[in-house]
Formats: sequence, structure tokens, C-alpha cells
Amino acid sequence: TEALMMDVARTKPHLPDAQTVTKVTHWTDRLFSFRVTRPASLRFRSGEFVMIGLLGDNGKPLLRAYSIASPSWDEELEFYSIKVPDGPLTSKLQHIQPGDEIILRPKPVGTLVHDALLPGSRIWFLATGTGIAPFASLMRDPETYDKYDQVIMMHTCREVAELEYGRQLVESLKDDPLIGEMVGDKLLYYPTTTREASPRMGRITENLTSGKVFADLGLAPMDPEEDRAMVCGSLAFNHDVKAVLEKFGLREGANSEPLEYVVEKAFVGDGI
Ligand code: FAD
Ligand code: A2P
Repeated sequence: TEALMMDVARTKPHLPDAQTVTKVTHWTDRLFSFRVTRPASLRFRSGEFVMIGLLGDNGKPLLRAYSIASPSWDEELEFYSIKVPDGPLTSKLQHIQPGDEIILRPKPVGTLVHDALLPGSRIWFLATGTGIAPFASLMRDPETYDKYDQVIMMHTCREVAELEYGRQLVESLKDDPLIGEMVGDKLLYYPTTTREASPRMGRITENLTSGKVFADLGLAPMDPEEDRAMVCGSLAFNHDVKAVLEKFGLREGANSEPLEYVVEKAFVGDGI
């Protein structure tokens, strides 16, 4: 019996910090989202990230940072992921199915949290690609609508299909039984593409600098007294957006020193 049990243990290793996949949605050949069970003890602030992964071929956990895309009141956890064809984790993770287990280290951290900003009247969520993940959480958090009169979600991708996860999420908020009423008409969604024609185009940096987004949405230009921002994208995007926000007079804050904007990497790029 002992030998048999060891065989079983070898063929189906029990993952440390295991959670069970409940749903998987593929959005494009490069993007998917999935939901997993939530550890009963896990508390997090909307916008934070955790380490998740699978057992590697060597039997050791292969973990990567992932923003929690679900709001803190949700009984499950949601993630929105890239599929890197030869990526150590995502080449495997993209094949998960409901019922499979993933590893989730229950230690949430991150800078894209309300506590890291001074009070204001408008908040700008600025994201490219999978950088929308932390905002998928924050857009569903009642605190966001408690704290701000207007919430502007700018999301930019190369192609229209890459906007779909965010578009459906924003659409669903209006009728959400829990927060639909709080969202009301406070949430302004400004999706753009840069390499495929769509109703709105251009990089976030360009649309802020030219003033196009303010004109399109009928808003006053950014003002450090009123406006707060959270930024999540590639290193190049984050770098360039910071410069734009600083030109408007906003300063980078942190958990320890709340100011007017905060930034998080959506991923660590090649060679960095
Ligand atoms: P890796 O070896 O980790 O990456 C290979 C290469 O793929 C990278 O060098 C980079 O060029 C590219 N790449 C990696 N991630 C992305 C991405 N998200 N978008 C575009 N290109 C990418 N990834 C998510 O998909 N969703 C998230 O919510 C998320 N949150 C993150 C939060 C933080 C704070 C950080 C630092 C990273 C986050 N990432 C997220 C990236 C994630 O940690 C992994 O890099 C990604 O899952 C790919 O893992 P991999 O092992 O397959 O390839
Ligand atoms: P563009 O197509 O003009 O490069 P990527 O897939 O390269 O990470 O880009 C995702 C989106 O972010 C694309 O729409 C891209 O626009 C845009 N982007 C990339 N780099 C920057 C940057 N430095 N500043 C603003 N937008 C950027």
C-alpha cells in the first residue's frame, strides 16, 4: 500500500498553496483570463498582485507576479494573462482547464492602491495590454466610487480584439447588482488602438498631451489639485506616462507617502 501511495503522490503531486481553476476564457491567441478558488484567509486591497504558478518540470514551483483582477468582495479570484509562446510559465499556464490546480502564494502586495494617493475628485486609470488587470479589480471596488466623482479608464492596445476583456468588463458594470448603482455614470471608458483602425485611436501619452481625451470626454485638463492617476503597462509606457503626468504637475506617491499618482509594471521586459 505504501508503495502504491508513493506512486500516486508522484503522479499527482500535491501542490503547496493549491487553488482550483473554476473558469477559463480565451480572448485572443495571446490573451486569456481565468478564475480560481480563493483561500478563505486571503485579504487583499484592490490593485495588488500575488505570486501564482505551476510546478515546474524539476518539481519546484514556477511562480510569476500577477495582478488580482477581481474585486476584494468576490468569492473567487480572477487573473488576466498573456500567453508568451516560449514563456516558462505561460507556455503551460495557457492550457489550464477547470478542475486543474495552480499555486497561489497568499501574500498580496503592490503600489496601485487607494491608500497611496491623496484625496481628489477624479482618478485616471492608465493601462496598456494586460496592465488593465489591476484596474479590472479597482473598477469593481466600491471604494473607487466612494472616493472619486469621476473614474476615467484609458486602455490602449495594438488591436481591437485585445481590448475585448476590458470592454466586456466595463459593459457588465452598469448592470452589476452589487456596484452598478455606485458606478452610475461616474465611469468614463476610453479604449484606443494604435495598429488597427477603431473609433478611438492613439497612444495614451499622445491623447493626454494633445488634449484629445479631455476634449472627447468634455473634461478639464489634468490638475494636481483634483486629479489622481494610477499607471500600469510596459516599462517604456510607464516611463513616458510619468513624464506626461509630471508635466501636469502630478507627483509620484507610495504607500508610505501618498501623493498624486502611482505606477506598477505590467511585466518585466526583455533585457531588464
Ligand atoms: P517570462 O519569462 O516571465 O516573460 C517572458 C517575456 O514575455 C518578458 O521578458 C516580456 O517581454 C514578455 N511578457 C511577460 N509578461 C507580459 C505581459 N503581461 N504582457 C506582455 N508581455 C509580457 N502578466 C500577466 O499576464 N498578467 C498580470 O496580471 C501580470 N501582473 C504582473 C504584475 C507585476 C508586478 C509584474 C512584475 C509582472 C506581472 N505580469 C503579469 C507578468 C508575469 O509576471 C509574467 O512575466 C508573465 O506571466 C509571463 O511569464 P512567463 O514565465 O511565461 O515568461
Ligand atoms: P504602439 O503600437 O504605438 O507601439 P506593446 O504591445 O508594445 O507593449 O504595446 C501595447 C500598447 O502600448 C500599444 O498600443 C503601443 O502603441 C502602446 N505603447 C507602447 N509603448 C508605449 C509608450 N512608450 N508610450 C505610450 N504608449 C506605448
